[in-house]
Amino acid sequence: MDTDSITVFRGDTSRLKNVVNISERVTPEFFKLEQERIFRSAWLPVGSASELDGPGSFMVTDVPPLKASLLITRDENNVVHAFHNVCRHRGEKLVHALKGKQRLFSCAFHAWTYSTAGKLTGVTDEGQFRNLNKDDYGLIPIHVEVWEDLVFVNFAATPEQSLKEWMGDMYDGYRGFAKGRVKIGDHRVVLKTNWNIAINAFSEGYHNLYIHKNTVPDYQGGSGNPRRHRAYMEVGEHFGRYSALGNPNHKPTAAEGILFEHSRPMYPSFPPPDMDALPPGVNPLRLKHWAFDIVHVAPHFVLGPQANTHSYMFFWPIDHETTDVRVMRFAFQTDKPADRIGQAHSLVRTREVLREDLATMESSLEAISSGALPNIILSQQEMLIQNHYRIADEMLARP
Ligand code: FES
Ligand SMILES: [Fe+2]
Repeated sequence: MDTDSITVFRGDTSRLKNVVNISERVTPEFFKLEQERIFRSAWLPVGSASELDGPGSFMVTDVPPLKASLLITRDENNVVHAFHNVCRHRGEKLVHALKGKQRLFSCAFHAWTYSTAGKLTGVTDEGQFRNLNKDDYGLIPIHVEVWEDLVFVNFAATPEQSLKEWMGDMYDGYRGFAKGRVKIGDHRVVLKTNWNIAINAFSEGYHNLYIHKNTVPDYQGGSGNPRRHRAYMEVGEHFGRYSALGNPNHKPTAAEGILFEHSRPMYPSFPPPDMDALPPGVNPLRLKHWAFDIVHVAPHFVLGPQANTHSYMFFWPIDHETTDVRVMRFAFQTDKPADRIGQAHSLVRTREVLREDLATMESSLEAISSGALPNIILSQQEMLIQNHYRIADEMLARP
């Protein structure tokens, strides 16, 4: 291993492999297994609970690997529900809007109505239906739990574990991390790539020095950490996370200088964090020059906590060679114009960096699809990727 490594490792690394057969993972047959054994049994983050703003609010979101559209509601009693977004009469998609607030959902086809708790409340021309008991035709529910600001669903008839058991050590470590934050950006792109390849690119910092050399040349690294090694890495049963350091020698550009003076700094600034305000799971080592954390929540989600902002990244497979990537950014609520400009600046900088990340994914799949590559080899700095395949393989191996 490099002698300049500064990484503190935590967790059970004994089941990790640093050599992975990638060619077999990009086939339609393999994707079928992933659909059934991974996506149909894992707890899946699907969206931000901040979109469910009070009783009667709802959002619609897709779960592409299971070809499902979900209707997630907050009912009159503030209870969150998830349903298949399908009308129980003849299967029309019930809600076409992406989000909103209403007391009842009415199907556009023959106007059956449902409550926000999923109850069938109205059948038009009801007398013409023989033996219709409305209680038997409510919306079809899916297991749902809210953790902090994230909505998780589980498609199993009976989930093997509660969300708390599934998340393990990280469950209690993030209390309040999203409090007071609002969504400031939401980007979505469908790429011709395999979802494993896509999420792998967001689970390591090894590429930072190379792929991002023009957009963010000196935000990380610096004389004390020339290889930009992550300061902390941890692998858990169904998650992996690392902490990245900012470069204490970074010289703000002219625009950054002005913004950081007048607004609460966000990426690409890495202000010394207010350690007391961070929950224990964020920047677990309490690193002074902390830039951000990356938290891979298996199978398809990456959480990115930072000072004054955080991101959610969803890598949804549509099939073995198509991935729906969605990136949401959140920041503190503000009416101050300088803060708003600072947030917009940060969003644009992030988008440029994101584009560079996305650029490798389609060409990687193109090159891998020939089947010529016997395997890929992963470094210690790519430990979260090793953990991603360990989790996937253990789920795939179950009967
Ligand atoms: S399909 Fe919805 S009311 Fe007929
Ligand atoms: Fe990157």
